[in-house]
Amino acid sequence: MNQTSWTRCHILSLADFVPAEYDTLLQTAASFREVLSRRTKKVPALQGQVIANLFFEPSTRTRSSFELAAKRLSADTLNLSAGTSSLSKGETILDTAKTYLAMGADIMVIRHQQAGVPQTVATEMDRLASGVSILNAGDGQHEHPSQALLDLFTLYSFLEPNSPSGFLQGTKIAIVGDILHSRVARSNIYSLTSMGAEVHLAAPSTLLPKLLAHITDGTRVGKLFLHWDIESALQDADLVMTLRLQSERMSQHLLPSLREYHQYYGITRDRLKLCQPGVKLLHPGPVNRGVEISSEVMDDPQFSLISQQVTSGVAVRMALLYLIGSSKV
Ligand code: NCD
Repeated sequence: MNQTSWTRCHILSLADFVPAEYDTLLQTAASFREVLSRRTKKVPALQGQVIANLFFEPSTRTRSSFELAAKRLSADTLNLSAGTSSLSKGETILDTAKTYLAMGADIMVIRHQQAGVPQTVATEMDRLASGVSILNAGDGQHEHPSQALLDLFTLYSFLEPNSPSGFLQGTKIAIVGDILHSRVARSNIYSLTSMGAEVHLAAPSTLLPKLLAHITDGTRVGKLFLHWDIESALQDADLVMTLRLQSERMSQHLLPSLREYHQYYGITRDRLKLCQPGVKLLHPGPVNRGVEISSEVMDDPQFSLISQQVTSGVAVRMALLYLIGSSKV
C-alpha cells in the first residue's frame, strides 16, 4: 500500500487536502475493497490500537461503518452514546475526550452538532502531546470529510479510471438541495473540484450559503457554479448528488412547503432526462423519500449509486483509520 505521502495526523477538513493525498486515499481504499471481497474480511493492521467513536449527534451509516472499519482492521473499539453518557451529568466534551485518552484511545472519531468541536479536541490532544488522532465524522454545518471521500471513492470505483489523478476532469456534477446546511456539500466541493470536476450547485436562494450569495446564477468561481433553478444545473450533468433537507438545522422558515420543494427541486425521472444518458445519482442518506428525490428514482439501479456509497464507506474509513493509525508507528 502506498502511504509514503501520508503525513497527516488528524482529518478535520478537506480544505487543505492536496491531490497526492486524494490519490493515496483512493488507492488505499481500493486495497481494502479487495480485502472486503475475501472470505476472511479482516487484516491485523491496527491490532492493539483503540478507536473511540464519540458521536454526540444521531448517525446510522457513519457510526456503523467507522465501527465496522475499525473491527476489520483488528482495532479495539469504544462507543460513546451521548444520551447515556456522563455528558448528561454535565461533563464537558474535552473532559469526556480526556477520559477516553486516559483509557488509551489512539484515534477518536468525533461527530458533533456544533462546527469546530473536532478541531477543539484535536488542539487539546496536541497540547497534551498525546499523539491521539482526531477524525471529523461531521461537525455542524462545517464539514464531513469521510462522507466526501467515500463519495469520491464510489465515483472512482464506478468510473474505473486508469489512474486516480484528476480522474473527474471533464465531468459535470450537479449538487442539488440544502447546500446552506450541508457539511457534505462543503467537503464535496473541495474534493470534487480538486479531482477536476465542474461542480454545479442548485438550490432555492434561501438554501445557498450566504458566503456565495453575491455570485449570480451561472457565474464561474474556479470550478464552481451556482444555480437558483435546477434545470440549468442538471443540463448534460454526468452525475447528480442530492442532499437531504436538514430540517433539524433550519432555524427559520426557509421553504414554503416540502411539497413545493419537491415540485421545483425534487429529482424525478423527467428531470433526469436533462442529464447525460448514463447519469448516476448519489445521496449521502438518510433520504426523505418523495422530497429531495422521488421514491421511484431512488430505487432504480439504473440511476442510483446510493447503496454503493454505503458499501464504499467501510473501505474508505478503513483507509482513513489505517493511514492515520500507521503514521504513528
Ligand atoms: C449526512 C450527515 O449526517 O451529515 N449523513 C451521513 O453522514 N451519511 C447528511 C445528512 O444528515 O443529511
